[in-house]
Amino acid sequence: MLGSGKGSNFVAIADAVAAGKIPAEIAVVLSDVESAGILAHARDRKIPAQFIPPGKFRTKLDEEAERVFVNALQTAKVDLIVLAGFMRVLKGDFLRAFEGRIVNIHPSLLPSFPGLEAWKQALEHGVKVTGCTVHFVDAGVDCGPIIGQQTVPVLDTDTPENLHQRIHAAEHELYPKCVAAIARREISVVGRRVIQKK
Ligand code: GRF
Repeated sequence: MLGSGKGSNFVAIADAVAAGKIPAEIAVVLSDVESAGILAHARDRKIPAQFIPPGKFRTKLDEEAERVFVNALQTAKVDLIVLAGFMRVLKGDFLRAFEGRIVNIHPSLLPSFPGLEAWKQALEHGVKVTGCTVHFVDAGVDCGPIIGQQTVPVLDTDTPENLHQRIHAAEHELYPKCVAAIARREISVVGRRVIQKK
């Protein structure tokens, strides 16, 4: 799992793994932020956790960092990469090394509101329903094939903060379910469509 932030989605998935709901093992947690909560949560659970300096760019990994990330993931022999609040766009060699094996969660109903602060974008646009999306990662930003979505109503009284909070709660339900379906090999991808076999 890769993350840059507090790691609440990591906790939801790690708890689901520990409860036997996901037939998988979290092999390693990597972060581009040394102080990220996700690393501390992983260490609390005795899961290998490593900070890797991201290099000179702000929104992507530089070539050397990309190489170190790919190497760490290959050494850990991972089958699937789960992005949980990883704030850098993955590019070229990284995507090629793990094609079709990277998933992400985004805090809106894609394709609406890709990019940053999607809950705020939804509120400002005035939609009545938003939510979260788990999707495969491809070369675009927030636009690979959609694995699962969960809706969250937008209330008249909502502030960006409390809408974000309810989306986060929905993420913690949706993400473990999607990862479990992948781990059970129930998922196949046909063009842009992700079909669940069971
Ligand atoms: C989530 O809102 C997710 O949708 C976005 O980053 C956030 C990560 O939160 N991609 P956390 O670090 O899992 O708490």
